[in-house]
Amino acid sequence: MNQSFYDIVRNRRSTRSFTTEHILDETINNILDIASYAPSSWGGHPIEFIIIRDKDKLKELARCKKMGAGPLAYSDVAIVPIIDKRNLELWVEDAAVASTYILLAAEYYGVGACWIHMKDRQGHTNMAEDDIKDLLGIPDYYGILNAVSLGYPAKPNKPHDLKPVIHGYSSHPDR
Ligand SMILES: Cc1cc2nc3c(=O)[nH]c(=O)nc-3n(C[C@H](O)[C@H](O)[C@H](O)COP(=O)(O)O)c2cc1C
Repeated sequence: MNQSFYDIVRNRRSTRSFTTEHILDETINNILDIASYAPSSWGGHPIEFIIIRDKDKLKELARCKKMGAGPLAYSDVAIVPIIDKRNLELWVEDAAVASTYILLAAEYYGVGACWIHMKDRQGHTNMAEDDIKDLLGIPDYYGILNAVSLGYPAKPNKPHDLKPVIHGYSSHPDR
């Protein structure tokens, strides 16, 4: 904590291996509190969250996608953002923005996190989204873009050193 906003953005990395330390419910609630402020299409704030702590459920969640979902099985907590997509054309964008808030909020609280993509990904039998709905009892009219795996990082993050790609500024009309 006590990092500047720039430090949080720069230090955030995808964390895929975690210690056995548990994240307090209070910390998860703080992360979700921040995520609930994410901007949303039509200002509808449609995002809802499912929290999974049960180890067996985490393993089953990881199995819902064929490849690249391993970190979920080893995480302390998973957050699955869901959106009632009826009459909501931009639900994917809404879920993506809220998920990004989760990643940054996690970094603020010293928690490691990784976006695990689910939408349009193959599961072991059905599509990953459908398997998650079966596993968690989520009605079909909800959209699931991803899950986020969370835990305390097993090793320190190495920040990226990135620079924006800028294609020049247009002149200000007053100049
Ligand atoms: C849209 C999206 C989908 C991603 N899907 C996965 C995934 O399924 N599994 C995974 O381990 N990481 C996934 N990631 C994490 C990326 O691999 C990671 O952000 C990228 O390699 C850059 O590394 P960094 O997050 O440490 O900066 C995803 C990230 C985004 C933004």
